[in-house]
Amino acid sequence: MASTVIQTHALTRSFGPRRGIVDVDLAVEPGQIFGFLGPNGAGKSTTIRILMGLYHASSGSARVLGLDPFADAVEVHRRTGYLPGELAVYPRLTGRQVLDRFASVRGLRGTRYRDQLVERFGAEVDRPTQTLSKGNKQKLGLVLAFMHRPELLVLDEPTSGLDPLLQLEFATLLQETTAAGRTVFLSSHDLDEVQRVVHRLAIIREGRIVVTDTVEGLRRHAPRTVELTFDHDVDASALDRVDAVQASAWTDPGHLRLTVAGPMAPVLRAIAPLDPVDLFARPADLDELFLGYYRSTDLQEA
Ligand SMILES: Nc1ncnc2c1ncn2[C@@H]1O[C@H](COP(=O)(O)OP(=O)(O)O)[C@@H](O)[C@H]1O
Ligand SMILES: [Mg+2]
Repeated sequence: MASTVIQTHALTRSFGPRRGIVDVDLAVEPGQIFGFLGPNGAGKSTTIRILMGLYHASSGSARVLGLDPFADAVEVHRRTGYLPGELAVYPRLTGRQVLDRFASVRGLRGTRYRDQLVERFGAEVDRPTQTLSKGNKQKLGLVLAFMHRPELLVLDEPTSGLDPLLQLEFATLLQETTAAGRTVFLSSHDLDEVQRVVHRLAIIREGRIVVTDTVEGLRRHAPRTVELTFDHDVDASALDRVDAVQASAWTDPGHLRLTVAGPMAPVLRAIAPLDPVDLFARPADLDELFLGYYRSTDLQEA
């Protein structure tokens, strides 16, 4: 079996007294699209810069493609497509000149794939890069990251600044990339933008990973709402004693709302004797769960 593409153990980086990241554990497998999610300032770019050999870790370890990101930076960069959070390229050169430079440094001869990428993203390549808008810089950055068909892509907030159509195009490109057995690690502060494309995700908050799971797994564990309607008075205290019932509240006389996290069967068994006239269950809301992880003050274990 091919080995883990990105592996970190207790990766920590502090900036003087300021918290950067603390005990970050990540494992990204070959062919995966791995999402690294978290609000602004959570530590995504810091982690990514360590993976790209741009920052030293204070403690802990990181391997990228089996290599040491700092000692083997040249080889890591040769085999990786990196999109930085803030693209800084020769400001006076046009996009095309920047692409040419990168191509020659990387020993790329053909321009066919790169031209296709420019076309797909509608990247503006004839103007000096310093005149480009954030969105246009992002498109150029994506072409730079993908054009040498690297076996690993490390993309820091790739979808920010892309309009919805380009986000779709980007999602298609990701699928092509992993269908070819290559691996993608991408960060985002917006679950909506990436939940349909990532296979697995880790949520980082205040420098620490709070959960790592598949999108499906997260959905399974997300709390769901069950609403019951009664045409008679009911003592519902038995429901509160079921483990999976996190909360219950009468929203109207005759309407009881439950928040359920866990197996449903014991809940149904407790509901049946109460003889409701109707039952309505809402699918788990991933956004709510995600916001919960963003907000929660007590950190949860993965
Ligand atoms: N070069 C730096 N010097 C000082 N503090 C930094 C530096 N880089 C990042 N930080 C701090 O580390 C934390 C995480 O930042 P960052 O990794 O950029 O978050 P994200 O990319 O998730 O928005 C922030 O509190 C930020 O202020
Ligand atoms: Mg960042």
